[in-house]
Amino acid sequence: MEYRAKSSQIEKLRTSCVVCPVFSSKKMSPTALALDNVTGGYVSAIIKKESFLSKSAETKLLFPPEGGIERIILVGMGKEKDLDLAQFNKSISAAWRELSKTGAKDVTFLLSDCINKHLSLDTIARNLVLAIEDLRYSYDVYKSKEPASASEKVKQITAHYSDRKNITTAEEGLKIGQIIANAQKCTKDLGNCPPNDCTPSTLADLAKSLDKNSNLIKTTVLEEKDMKALGMGALLSVTRGSTEKAKLICIEYIPPKSKNRKPIVFVGKGITFDTGGLDMKPRPTSLGMKFDMLGAATVYSLMKSLVDLECPFPVVGVMACSENCVGPDATKPGSIVKTMKGITVEITNTDAEGRLVLCDALTYVERYQPDCVIDMATLTGGVIVALGDVASGLMSNHAGLQKEIELASQKTNDFVWTLPTWPIFKEKLVTKAADIRNENGLPSSVLAGAFLSHFTEEYPWAHLDIAGTAFTNDRQATGRPIHLLIEFLHKRMTSK
Ligand code: BES
Ligand code: MN
Ligand code: ZN
Repeated sequence: MEYRAKSSQIEKLRTSCVVCPVFSSKKMSPTALALDNVTGGYVSAIIKKESFLSKSAETKLLFPPEGGIERIILVGMGKEKDLDLAQFNKSISAAWRELSKTGAKDVTFLLSDCINKHLSLDTIARNLVLAIEDLRYSYDVYKSKEPASASEKVKQITAHYSDRKNITTAEEGLKIGQIIANAQKCTKDLGNCPPNDCTPSTLADLAKSLDKNSNLIKTTVLEEKDMKALGMGALLSVTRGSTEKAKLICIEYIPPKSKNRKPIVFVGKGITFDTGGLDMKPRPTSLGMKFDMLGAATVYSLMKSLVDLECPFPVVGVMACSENCVGPDATKPGSIVKTMKGITVEITNTDAEGRLVLCDALTYVERYQPDCVIDMATLTGGVIVALGDVASGLMSNHAGLQKEIELASQKTNDFVWTLPTWPIFKEKLVTKAADIRNENGLPSSVLAGAFLSHFTEEYPWAHLDIAGTAFTNDRQATGRPIHLLIEFLHKRMTSK
């Protein structure tokens, strides 16, 4: 899709559709008034007749009798003073749905009236792209008939501002919006891919192709023999029941003149299918477990976006990939393994496998001398009980890093909620048989984080449990927390 920013007089607009935001105060905004003038009083007549109340996300499609505008979609934005990002996204989505039913080939969104103290110009441009691209997405790879997207008529989207000096900022917003949308699409595609086609090897091949396509990216894939040599007993215990080979995929992004800077490191859980192992999951839970690699998919998509973002500092992405299956050699409950860190772990539940692959990956990344490490994982069902599909669970050992992530979350509406990292939770994992055990009942999310924190003492660390946010109940990947993390990177790019 082509996005552009433009400022021109409404009188001169020639377009097959204009989307005009209207607030519920009924007072015509400057843009609505201008549109009213070009259409010979048509817009105000409709609004006055009260057939359009400008309620939140209410839409009305109009065919003005005169002027160069073929269609107008009025979209209700609610109360002017309450307009925030959530309302903006809701209304833009409603307008896009209305528009998709028409034959319009291009559309102009009149955005000047949406700028306020909650919504900056670039936020509006960025989220216009994100709201539309989210609705445009469908996963059609396995459809044998022509997908719905093939019949899409709109080819060009214009973000319109009355003030010329706004255009450069708007263009930047549209650009980063498209980078974020691409990364979200990439994450969704990987998550939605079925588990018979998305395996650790598939992900490793994709990561290698990133290396081929850019000279700023270097990919290294650690095979099981390499992991064995490094002493990654925890990671290797997870893959034993599977015929697929585990892969520890390391993607390094090194931009020019950045060799002396410490990298930001992302680590992702990449369980391409989680049966639970011998502590097997019942259906229908297991049906969603192809999504258990969305942490790794997020890492991959982030790494892929760095070149487009022109990120000036080094970033490393590590994807800890394995299946968690059953087979004659599957890890038995009660087995004790030695991690790369040297800590011994009693595997009291083979379904708590995410932390086992992550702990060795988190030790491995010490070699990069990270500025900070952020891991993402569909780690616990408990985080869904606590926060539902609204927020990802955040845990951190570093107040500054935690604050940065919380701020990025507020800016993007990609919500996180911080869970405690008190020593008492770490102590609950100490066991008689070994140094620690991999689970100990409730509270499962906090204990999972506490388990990881045994392995992250060497650097500032944050953990995002995305089990509730990365995919939906009806089994669609959402693309979260890409927006959050690109905002985190973007903020560092522009302020340091
Ligand atoms: N992949 C699951 C967590 C999960 C559950 C993700 C539901 C998405 C939706 C993870 O490996 C798991 O099984 N966790 C267990 C941990 C427990 C055994 C301590 C859980 O949360 O039940
Ligand atoms: Mn599991
Ligand atoms: Zn899992």
